[in-house]
Amino acid sequence: MPKKIFLIAAARPNFMKVAPLWRAMAARPGTLQPMLIHTGQHYDHNMSEVFFEDLGLPTPHVHLGVGGGSHAQQTAGVMLKFEELCLQEQPDLVVVVGDVNATMATSITAAKLHIPVAHVEAGLRSRDMTMPEEINRLLTDSIADLLFTPSPDADANLLAEGVAPARIRLVGNIMIDSLVRSVEKARGMDTCERFGLTPGGFGVVTLHRPANVDDPDTLARILDVLVGMKIPLVFPVHPRTRAVMSLHDLDARCDLTGSLIILADPLGYYEFMNLVVHSQIILTDSGGLQEEATWLGIPCLTLRPNTERPITITEGTNELATVDTLADQTARILGGKWKQGRVPDLWDGATAPRIVDALEEFLAGR
Ligand code: UD1
Repeated sequence: MPKKIFLIAAARPNFMKVAPLWRAMAARPGTLQPMLIHTGQHYDHNMSEVFFEDLGLPTPHVHLGVGGGSHAQQTAGVMLKFEELCLQEQPDLVVVVGDVNATMATSITAAKLHIPVAHVEAGLRSRDMTMPEEINRLLTDSIADLLFTPSPDADANLLAEGVAPARIRLVGNIMIDSLVRSVEKARGMDTCERFGLTPGGFGVVTLHRPANVDDPDTLARILDVLVGMKIPLVFPVHPRTRAVMSLHDLDARCDLTGSLIILADPLGYYEFMNLVVHSQIILTDSGGLQEEATWLGIPCLTLRPNTERPITITEGTNELATVDTLADQTARILGGKWKQGRVPDLWDGATAPRIVDALEEFLAGR
């Protein structure tokens, strides 16, 4: 009998991690029976469905429909519905990815029902407990049976926390599997053209972290620096950021004469990656984009005081930035004075099969 595996999808950054896992599991019908569970944390068409279409994911087997809300509402909502589903379906294993609220909520629920949990993208640490994702990472890693890590720093973090080495597997970066598979198609899309941008001559901006966008004064300061830049910037605005900009009329700051910022709605995976692959610089507070920039060799400035992905700095093209340093760092990049970077080991597009091999071995031993 194939083992029933729940694969948890919830929010935009998870979909590109879940897609390669789905494909690798579906390719082994004799041993594994994957079921895709969408918790509903992200629910707009352009934050969710478009990624399912682009990434070739099937309609989720189950949609819990929990939606947005406060952290407690999201977490509790997912736990209640997911517990019911687990009792009904009795999965053999739950696979969670990343660090969003649903990652933590489904892990805790499964662990308490004695269902083994595998965490993909385990071991990353920002050591910043004001980030909800850091709490999600710590809690998930503390109870997951299998911890699949993207880079040696993650292994070191887990070992330092006393995790038994047998629970840890260094498998590489799952999101890079999606990028490797999609990069050529993305290159051929027409998003640059649609925005009137010249390939190699513009920057991509994304901002959605609470620390950058929830306080309108902080967000306004960042926008003012961006408006002062001498390079066209395209900024697909996340719903969280959009809400603050609309409430405080911050769009007007981007419309000033001489401003080269183009504000856009969130884009699909291929549409967005077309902008990324053709960009000269990336300005972001996203976790995934730091990694994609590193793989593509594009200079990246991360508007955060820390990163849980330090390998993007030590080996890749990423640097941390503040609102005060952003302009100087951008000038260095535009002046051609930036590190080259290299692609970290095992960021090779073959992480999903390594994970599935390990899952089969784990399940065979039970
Ligand atoms: C979540 C993740 C974050 C991840 C980000 C990527 C947590 C704690 N945070 O943050 O790690 O980097 O996703 O996007 O899990 N909204 C919509 N439509 C949607 C999705 C969200 O309008 O499709 C609104 C929500 O109702 C809410 C706001 O956007 O008001 C924020 O959504 P939420 O999922 O709570 O957090 P994100 O900021 O997206």
